[in-house]
Amino acid sequence: MSMPHLEVIIGSTRPGRVGPAIARWFADVAVADGRFDVELVDLAQVNLPLLDEPNHPIQRRYEHEHTRRWSATIEAADALVFVVPEYNHSFNAATKNAIDYLYHEWRYKPVGIVSYGGPIMGTRSAQHLKTVFSALRMVHAGDVSISLVTTPVTDGVFAGAEGVQRATATLLDELAQLGSGLRHLRAPSPAS
Ligand SMILES: Cc1cc2nc3c(=O)[nH]c(=O)nc-3n(C[C@H](O)[C@H](O)[C@H](O)COP(=O)(O)O)c2cc1C
Repeated sequence: MSMPHLEVIIGSTRPGRVGPAIARWFADVAVADGRFDVELVDLAQVNLPLLDEPNHPIQRRYEHEHTRRWSATIEAADALVFVVPEYNHSFNAATKNAIDYLYHEWRYKPVGIVSYGGPIMGTRSAQHLKTVFSALRMVHAGDVSISLVTTPVTDGVFAGAEGVQRATATLLDELAQLGSGLRHLRAPSPAS
């Protein structure tokens, strides 16, 4: 059986962002773990406009090519990790916009959160994301919380401290467990 496909989503899209450095670090750890086929998905490159589909995503009647491409990307994931900044005590708007485009593609997928920010480590951002995930029947697998105060991104490079490495290992364990446990729920029923 092929390895589960883990998509690491870079939520921040602004120029000068640190998100890609943190996501690359996480993805490198996940590749070294050996249990996942890992892909980095950068919302800045996905480049979705503000939600412009006329139909509710539950109907899956997409009118735009950018939505069909985004749908195919998320459909291919067996597990997801969102790497998100904290903006004004929540997660950033580009992440919410990208989530709102789809419905079925998220359902029953295990999802982890890597949040980052000041001394609160983006944890308010993570809390708000979890509320959204539960609306979409995603299954939360755990959090990694990063303080940019104690572990800044330097020259475009991030290196997780010991506690962050431990949390990452735990998250990868949970994603692997939940990924195989939830797989049968995502399989299309014979009738469909
Ligand atoms: C609009 C905006 C709002 C922010 N609000 C918070 C905040 O509420 N809490 C926090 O810890 N950091 C906050 N920050 C600081 C960010 O954590 C920091 O700039 C981080 O680098 C943002 O991630 P990014 O560079 O990947 O976009 C904010 C930054 C921006 C740009």
